[in-house]
Amino acid sequence: MAVMGSNLARNLASREGNTVAVYNRSPERTRKLVAEHPEAGFVASESVDDFVASLAKPRTAIIMVQAGAGTDAVISELAERFEPGDIIVDGGNANFHDTIRREKDVSATGIHFVGTGISGGEEGALKGPSIMPGGTAKAYETLGPILASIAAVAEGEPCVTHIGTDGAGHFVKMVHNGIEYADMQLIAEAYDLLRAVTKRTPAEIASVFETWNSGDLESYLIEITAEVLKQVDAETGQPFIDVVLDQAGAKGTGAWTVQNALDLGVPVGGIAEAVFARSVSSKPEQRAAVQAVVTSRPAVVEVDVDSFADDIRAALYASKVVAYAQGFDEIIAGAKEFGWEIDKGAVAKIWRAGCIIRAQFLNRIVEAYENNPSLATLLEDPYFASAVADGEAAWRRVVSTAALSGVPIPGFGAALSYYDSLATKRLPAALVQGQRDFFGAHTYKRVDKPGTFHTLWSGDRTEVETEPSTH
Ligand code: 6PG
Repeated sequence: MAVMGSNLARNLASREGNTVAVYNRSPERTRKLVAEHPEAGFVASESVDDFVASLAKPRTAIIMVQAGAGTDAVISELAERFEPGDIIVDGGNANFHDTIRREKDVSATGIHFVGTGISGGEEGALKGPSIMPGGTAKAYETLGPILASIAAVAEGEPCVTHIGTDGAGHFVKMVHNGIEYADMQLIAEAYDLLRAVTKRTPAEIASVFETWNSGDLESYLIEITAEVLKQVDAETGQPFIDVVLDQAGAKGTGAWTVQNALDLGVPVGGIAEAVFARSVSSKPEQRAAVQAVVTSRPAVVEVDVDSFADDIRAALYASKVVAYAQGFDEIIAGAKEFGWEIDKGAVAKIWRAGCIIRAQFLNRIVEAYENNPSLATLLEDPYFASAVADGEAAWRRVVSTAALSGVPIPGFGAALSYYDSLATKRLPAALVQGQRDFFGAHTYKRVDKPGTFHTLWSGDRTEVETEPSTH
């Protein structure tokens, strides 16, 4: 019954036909919620036994506790009292590996366990989040209508879909958060460039973002960026942004996205740089140490202020397309690895409203997968290919101007390099293969014939055909 839990409970209670039972470990919280929201008609319990007894069968309980050991404890308390066919839903930001484990353990008792990603923050929980449930199709028969009753609605459709079995929902929520990190970092870089290179004030930049919040870039994150930049600090009269310590926090879901991408062998550099950018910002000692030895910074390159702002807009869009392409690549790889059938278009659809990355742009992803469900990358889709090509020159001007001016752009830079890596006919990976073969006989393939080869580097340097190296 913390904010997310009580808002979800209030959302559920506000929908026709739902009666909501609530329970919290400390009863004061439950009492407070019930007293503050008599309109919700909550059925409140002060013990797990009473709570379980108050539920209609098949029982459905949604747990909203901090991810980790607390979740396991609450699951056991419920599982001990539930019967086969009942459903336990974990709506927290659990690690999907834990969800897979919990689903296995709980389902062995005949009880359903559904790890469910819920996005949209406190307001989304209350007014309509985007919901990403995993678990069995059977559990979804009961749970689906309940979740659909509280989800956000995009173009007439509720933002909930059965993502896949066991941990699929939490996996997709994790990738959602990785994309969220990338989107936020890219917007932050755009702000930084508008400030440092075009010399605009935060209030002026807020207006730029307001203008950008239409068309392709229209999104919740752009909208709230303008709000944050407009804010003035009551105490000092300074722009709010200037009084906030420039060290970004993180609760771990972005890092999980990158850790799993590494395990799956999926290049998500745009997302990774966003996670690392928060880490760099939170290293005050290292930042101070380098600032003490770096005595001169590059002069900021002179630009035409208005056309450079347009360039930044194009770079932001192209980089954002890359971040989403990387996120969807990870979803595809995860689905393959963990045996989930994930409908990418359906995922894009339920992200159109309610969640933090909600955006107009997701309609283009829906269309891309409708046109070709087996796209090798979103960058191959004709709409995205031409959108990126249209912005490409501007993107390069932004990255080069930032580099010359000493403005850090880990997100824009990583996205452009990723794009160039895919678009380049020959990569220096050939040299890496040569080096690996030289020092470790790791072997290589040739461009002109099949087989695996090794050069006798420490002998007469002739080439031999061999088995692929296993060491
Ligand atoms: C959402 C958000 C949310 C996330 C917070 C905090 O979809 O509603 O992704 O689940 O936990 O945004 O994330 P960080 O503290 O890691 O930035």
